[in-house]
Amino acid sequence: MHIVSVKKGLSVDEATTQADGFAVFGFFINATEDGVLSGPWYTLTANLTNITGSVFDFEQNNTFSIDDLIGNVDRTRFYRYYGSLTTPNCSEAVVWTIFQEPIQVPKELTHLFSTKVELINTYRPTEDLNGRQVTASPATPLPPAHSWCYNYHCDHDPSQWFLLPESHCDGKSQSPININTRSVMPDNSLNSFTFTNFDNKQAIKYIANTGHSVECVLKDDLVEVSGGGLKHIYSTVQFHFHWGTEVQNSPGSEHTVDSNRYPMEMHIVSKRKNLTLDEALKTSDGLAVLGFFIETQPTSSPSDQTAWKKLTQYFSAIRNIRSQVEVKEDISINDLLGKVNRNSYYRYSGSLTTPLCKEAVVWTIFQETIKVDGNLMTMFPKYTGFHNVYRPIQPLNARTVYTTRSASCISAPVLLYPLLVCFCSYNEQ
Ligand SMILES: *[C@@H]1O[C@H](CO)[C@@H](O)[C@H](O)[C@H]1NC(C)=O
Ligand SMILES: *[C@@H]1O[C@H](CO)[C@@H](O)[C@H](O)[C@H]1NC(C)=O
Ligand SMILES: *[C@@H]1O[C@H](CO)[C@@H](O)[C@H](O)[C@H]1NC(C)=O
Repeated sequence: MHIVSVKKGLSVDEATTQADGFAVFGFFINATEDGVLSGPWYTLTANLTNITGSVFDFEQNNTFSIDDLIGNVDRTRFYRYYGSLTTPNCSEAVVWTIFQEPIQVPKELTHLFSTKVELINTYRPTEDLNGRQVTASPATPLPPAHSWCYNYHCDHDPSQWFLLPESHCDGKSQSPININTRSVMPDNSLNSFTFTNFDNKQAIKYIANTGHSVECVLKDDLVEVSGGGLKHIYSTVQFHFHWGTEVQNSPGSEHTVDSNRYPMEMHIVSKRKNLTLDEALKTSDGLAVLGFFIETQPTSSPSDQTAWKKLTQYFSAIRNIRSQVEVKEDISINDLLGKVNRNSYYRYSGSLTTPLCKEAVVWTIFQETIKVDGNLMTMFPKYTGFHNVYRPIQPLNARTVYTTRSASCISAPVLLYPLLVCFCSYNEQ
């Protein structure tokens, strides 16, 4: 069943000239074995006729609404794409909404369409997608390849990720972990990083809703990370976020520090420059992920939020799962990181924090937090509809967490900080 609506204010002719001139709702109808032979579908089919141009005046005979025909189909579950009318002249003027759940109608009634109207096979063959994207509303259950999630509304919540085909999620070097600052080991080889093109304002190719997070995919072979005790040069591929709920300051980071969970965490994911992604996933240091905690900025010392405003403005365009939009605004990674200290960090070997949890990651968790406006932070759960998108803490097992000298020093109370800097630099000589 197609419910056809014309953009308000346009004539039908005008609507055919616009990509979204029409909104068509498509509902599948399932012919059921049983069901009552009464109600709106009974009345509708009782009045079908084979005479072209015949009109049944529903108003005269009681009787039913569009809502009655749709019944209890879940209207929050639907697919969306841009297409055409399915009959000549096939104007490419339709924003399509295809609802996932069918309307259940007894087969005795669906049968009447072909027998009483005497038209059969009244459907156009499927057309080529030609690179168009089909997106799904957040409520739409995902197919088996994406059957994992963070909550209890899917086949595999985090406690069952290890059951997914080819999963490594029950390995011994998993992430995230709790960083216990009392047992981290200072490591002099953890020096400064070199961030190449982190200041490039055109580095982001597009921003996407992955169904689990918001991800910014970078242009190929542009942004790089090296130094910082890494033994290779890494090409930065994407960055994405983890968060809690719409309540400001609700916990949502993946890593915790002394069991403290921060409101958000940003992961900048890079792969070893000379490896393919497949090769990198099979190598213990194939990937380098930089993790930054994000906290609400204090009103007393506001920082520049321009880049975060630009980024979050794209969220309204990626509400649906698997939708993506090109990033045209000038936003560099440096703009997003702000003034955060990048010389104090923790280092350990771990895994990706999403299935299949491959143990291929050199983790860097920065000690200082990025400060973001609280209202902008709540836009992550608000626009995607995803809440608490973080994996539970994994056991450290035999691993050691290392730290830069400066990280172990700065963890002292702020008032003592100037003193300690002197102490630390003295100590290092
Ligand atoms: C369609 O109807 C059949 C027969 O009543 C039922 O077994 C089946 O589950 C229905 N399919 C859907 C997708 O609702
Ligand atoms: C319409 O259907 C009726 C009943 O099946 C039949 O008698 C009639 O000839 C049909 N009319 C046309 C125009 O096909
Ligand atoms: C309304 O439609 C039903 C089903 O076709 C029919 O039996 C009934 O006579 C109609 N009532 C009126 C008032 O036309």
